[in-house]
Amino acid sequence: RRFNVAVVGATGAVGEELFRVMEAYDFPINKIVPLASARSLGSTIEYKNKEINVLELTETCFEENEVDIAFFSAGGSISEKFAKYAVEAGAVVIDNTSHFRMDENVPLVVPEVNPQDIALWKETGIIANPNCSTIQMVLSLKPLDELYGIKRVDVSTYQAVSGAGKKGMEELIKQMQDMLSFKLDDTKIEAFAHRIVNNVIPQIDVAQPNGFTKEEMKMVKETQKIMHKSMQIAATCVRVPVLRSHSESITVTFEDGVDVDVNAVREALAKFENVEVIDDLENNAYPMPIVSTDTDTTFVGRIRKDIYSSNVVHYFNVADQVRVGAATNSVRIALKWIEMENEI
Ligand code: A2P
Repeated sequence: RRFNVAVVGATGAVGEELFRVMEAYDFPINKIVPLASARSLGSTIEYKNKEINVLELTETCFEENEVDIAFFSAGGSISEKFAKYAVEAGAVVIDNTSHFRMDENVPLVVPEVNPQDIALWKETGIIANPNCSTIQMVLSLKPLDELYGIKRVDVSTYQAVSGAGKKGMEELIKQMQDMLSFKLDDTKIEAFAHRIVNNVIPQIDVAQPNGFTKEEMKMVKETQKIMHKSMQIAATCVRVPVLRSHSESITVTFEDGVDVDVNAVREALAKFENVEVIDDLENNAYPMPIVSTDTDTTFVGRIRKDIYSSNVVHYFNVADQVRVGAATNSVRIALKWIEMENEI
């Protein structure tokens, strides 16, 4: 069977990447329906060397185009308003925004980690795609939890500007140009709370009453929901002047009494689906954004045992935020959904 696939936010950073990933996975497509705001009418997207006109997102567009699968990536308020029309038209919605993620009737899925949760889609017609930082982290936590049992996670992120969509990437590039032409004093600051070029901003999303940011609390709550486990998690989310690919420095504390074997950790990570280990410090080999960008793999390295506590391991984790953290995970959810629906 082949499917009519809508992409809401087709002209955005994640939307454009969804088409590239579907091409790469040879997604079973009958018809593509690229949707965006009226501003984008007249523009086109490219799929397998064909130009396809962008249509306006409306309440009736899903029904008119007999959409089977609808990817949403145009912001939480758009999902809030329009997802129901896609569901009413009989489509499964795969939502990239945070809007439905913590709804207990909506599955929150990383297919390599909790594919069984997809079955819950029938409750609402919606499957939520987790936050980008959460996705790449749980891809490495899952095999480690299976190996030793995780008690606590401490993570600091180094997040690329792509997390703020196209406007985030455009702002970094413009500020780089302004820096090189000595115009930084007048540079525009819109996408982030502060200038991002030549800077590091220890805030992503808004402040919460407990002193953490919303992004940090997303990493806590979403990880617990995906892994079905209430382990302790503390996150510090930081924006850095990198165009694409998020990095994370992760410290995992295993259950009391565990004596970490670094080789066993390395092996468990290397065996896990879509995870690759690059870990040869003496030869300067470890994951970095320039390694992961434009790939569908989560890279881990710098794996080392704590020098004081035998049940603690530290490592570095890098993945392309637009792909692994958004478009690729969405496409993998859709493929798993197709596989499961055909089985039932
Ligand atoms: P448009 O280009 O027509 O504004 P990004 O995350 O890279 O900023 O992209 C956001 C995506 O969401 C774009 O495709 C954008 O389309 C789309 N979008 C934003 N607002 C709306 C809206 N009101 N209706 C439909 N699509 C929207």
